[in-house]
Amino acid sequence: MSLGSRRLSSHLIQLITLITFIWVLLLASLWTFHADTVRAVIPLDKFTAWPSYDPVDSAKDDRIQLLQVGDASPTRLALSSGRWQSNPAHQNLSLQWTDASSRYNCWSESELHPKGSGVRRSQDIDAWDWMKGDGEPLEDWSVERFVIRGLQSRFGYFMVGDSLTDGIFVALHRMLCEPNPTSHPLALERTYGHGPVRWKHATGPEVYYNNLTLNMAHSLGKALLERHDSAVDGKGEKEDELLGKIPRQRFFEPIVRFVRNSNLASEEEMEEILIEGLGIPLDWTIQLRTLAPWREYLASYADYDGWDGEKAGIVLINTGPHWEPDRFKPSTEAQMQLAYNLTMQKVYESLSALPSTLDLRILYRSTLPGHKDCEKKLYPVTKYDDAAVHPTGPFTGPYHWHWFPQYNDVARELWGRGRWSVRSKSRSTIEDKWERRHLSQDSWGSGIVTDYWDVWNLAATRPDAHVAWANRFMDCLHWCSGGVYAWVARAWWHTIVQEGL
Ligand SMILES: *[C@@H]1O[C@H](CO)[C@@H](O)[C@H](O)[C@H]1NC(C)=O
Ligand SMILES: *[C@@H]1O[C@H](CO)[C@@H](O)[C@H](O)[C@H]1NC(C)=O
Ligand SMILES: *[C@@H]1O[C@H](CO)[C@@H](O)[C@H](O)[C@H]1NC(C)=O
Repeated sequence: MSLGSRRLSSHLIQLITLITFIWVLLLASLWTFHADTVRAVIPLDKFTAWPSYDPVDSAKDDRIQLLQVGDASPTRLALSSGRWQSNPAHQNLSLQWTDASSRYNCWSESELHPKGSGVRRSQDIDAWDWMKGDGEPLEDWSVERFVIRGLQSRFGYFMVGDSLTDGIFVALHRMLCEPNPTSHPLALERTYGHGPVRWKHATGPEVYYNNLTLNMAHSLGKALLERHDSAVDGKGEKEDELLGKIPRQRFFEPIVRFVRNSNLASEEEMEEILIEGLGIPLDWTIQLRTLAPWREYLASYADYDGWDGEKAGIVLINTGPHWEPDRFKPSTEAQMQLAYNLTMQKVYESLSALPSTLDLRILYRSTLPGHKDCEKKLYPVTKYDDAAVHPTGPFTGPYHWHWFPQYNDVARELWGRGRWSVRSKSRSTIEDKWERRHLSQDSWGSGIVTDYWDVWNLAATRPDAHVAWANRFMDCLHWCSGGVYAWVARAWWHTIVQEGL
């Protein structure tokens, strides 16, 4: 080879290397910033090992998956192992819910669009749909069906928890007022007794209690009541027979109730464990507590009149972030974790004091993760992304986010496998619990039935959907209204339909 051609070939190699390098860079940045564009062009799902299985047909894979997620039921598993799919048609969801004047960062300018385009952050957050692990969408949201299911129980839906449950409740209210969530009369009216979220022992607790009740000035309430009355007169449609059986008075009682009890336990239960048991000299007057007596409320429904064909009441509960040393001064970290374990056990056992005539379906919702540096996250991620696997990192700040997975494990054990759990109840009649997928509503039996309801992945994959800047502090624990909160409510309805609750 002559010197000239050798130089030429070495130049050629340099050039090829440079071009390859540029391509790799391009592809890497495209993937980082526009993963969904890449996915839209290249159907990566077909090549990568993302789990896609049919819960009914591939029983073997199903078992492996089930063991990994801690014994979730097949429908529940598909629910929590899904992924977010871009859907620009939903971008204005929460914009339609409010006047967007709040100072919360959810309404600030989008970072994904050119400055001055007027696009809000909420539009980026809302433009995604949660798809189940089997690639299918969740059950369709239906205001009418949700309301009718509520009417079929003497108290309907009952929610208990902290400010995150409040967020889910508020989103649910907006969803129940679709398609005109802001124009009065609202389909469901919200009334509330706003006891202070923080109070001093001396002033005495007043609970924070919310009701959503059908508004008879709205066409939905009027139509349902008319259908009921026609059914009673024997003039209704066949499918309205069910409505006819519900006592007329029930239409004027709340469909959804929400009470704040951030710890799920009562003051007496916590005193017994923390003060008497662990010897922590708690000063209640400085603690943050909103301890609505939710079990007493549930028990009181046993005295309501029932009717032939009445269904179980549906209860959604959670606690977690408020189990941290800052709320129980002067407890140590180790004491706090132990106190949580012991108190949750006590709360679960307390169900035995509920009247046996009550039919309750109690789902314990997994605590939703907070995400470190959420203000830097602009897109949903997959559940394999580091932001979803380790949302908090070694976080040690307020509310102890890094404890949530461990707290969820305890809750899964109790509510998902305890003596009132659907798994324990069905074990007595069905040898192979995996066969539960073939059972319908009957597997829930009657009386009090509990389950752990896992929506961790749905939230863990949304580091972008938190409030982020809220006035003067960073809030990477709470969420903007239309994203995660709305999808948790959707997922709840999905489970209610799928499991025939
Ligand atoms: C959302 O609202 C914006 C501005 O108000 C509008 O331009 C856009 O078309 C809306 N998107 C959808 C999907 O309705
Ligand atoms: C909610 O409804 C219940 C039952 O009708 C009622 O006793 C209670 O006072 C209501 N509370 C509020 C805050 O509206
Ligand atoms: C609480 O229970 C969980 C799960 O059973 C366990 O891993 C953890 O060690 C317990 N914590 C304490 C402090 O006992």
